[in-house]
Amino acid sequence: MKVPVTQDKVRKIASQEHNIYINEGIDQHTATQMAPRSLLKPFSEDLKRNLSDQQKFLEVELYKCLDEPFYSDDGFILYQGDSTDFLQKLSSSNIKIDLTITSPPYNIGKEYEALMSVDEYINWCSHWMQQIHNITKPNGAFWLNVGYLEVPRRGLCVPIPYLLWDKSPFYLLQEVVWQYGAGVSTKYRLSPRNEKWLFYIKDYQNYTFNLDDIRDSNVKYPNQKKNGKYRCNPLGKNPSDVWEFSKITTGTKRSSKERTGHPAQFPLGIVERVINASSNQLEIVLDPFAGSCSTGIAATGLGRIFLGFEMRTDYCKMAVDRFKEFKKERDSSNEQ
Ligand SMILES: C[S@@+](CC[C@H](N)C(=O)[O-])C[C@H]1O[C@@H](n2cnc3c(N)ncnc32)[C@H](O)[C@@H]1O
Repeated sequence: MKVPVTQDKVRKIASQEHNIYINEGIDQHTATQMAPRSLLKPFSEDLKRNLSDQQKFLEVELYKCLDEPFYSDDGFILYQGDSTDFLQKLSSSNIKIDLTITSPPYNIGKEYEALMSVDEYINWCSHWMQQIHNITKPNGAFWLNVGYLEVPRRGLCVPIPYLLWDKSPFYLLQEVVWQYGAGVSTKYRLSPRNEKWLFYIKDYQNYTFNLDDIRDSNVKYPNQKKNGKYRCNPLGKNPSDVWEFSKITTGTKRSSKERTGHPAQFPLGIVERVINASSNQLEIVLDPFAGSCSTGIAATGLGRIFLGFEMRTDYCKMAVDRFKEFKKERDSSNEQ
């Protein structure tokens, strides 16, 4: 059997599926339900007031170092431009970040990427990971979502964590496997059905981890007792380091409800879990490769302040529209 090196002789792996659906026309979803119910809960008057104060304070501080934002309202602050420039400027400000969640370009030929050599890619990632470290609070965290890339003549689906895991001063607490159903189907190898999240912290003796806020209530034997006591925590079990969340799919009749026109959205549910685990209300959550701002929707839905950077103006516009729709949905669900 003669096996082609890649299926269409270009360096694309995960992007193939998207390219197929882009030809069909992306199903830009009409918002019947923008977000999981858990992101639509009403806030107390106290929290609303404190969020508004925190937003005002941050806007003023950001203006001093980053100038005018693309958009800023209700705890959602978005800047359009190169994140490495913004991160550099932030490092000389008073602003410190509690939690960074991001999924950078994977260097696999998506529409928003300028392809680099693998060495260039590693250097570029090391640079901004170091910058994120510089602006993270001492007890802060950094969650990095990455997939696979091709290393020419060495490997086709090389896990990006193998290349990046120790390329910043962060302490790697653990890797979480994000497992999903949909994905590229392949003939000459196994279909990739997972990506990774690297859970980094700054100080391994002092970091936020709210296990009770992310417990999994899907317990097989909830009533099992030992010495008269329930074996399982009443809030549920530890969700483990393998997480199952459906991918955001595109295409006629198979598009996820959350789907925007962005080709690489991560699901709100997964970001929600990360935010609940690694931050508290009123804290600042950064996404330097914000895309459609899934991090921003989940962060504001959970009473955090979101700061996002995104290079492309069309994605920024898309993200702002998404946030406005989300706000409408939240307001109307709170009126009912
Ligand atoms: C994998 S996508 C992120 C998708 C996002 N997690 C979501 O749920 O929509 C990466 C994003 O980074 C943006 N990007 C690439 N290079 C950038 C840079 N230097 N500065 C800011 N944004 C950049 C791309 O335009 C793209 O939207």
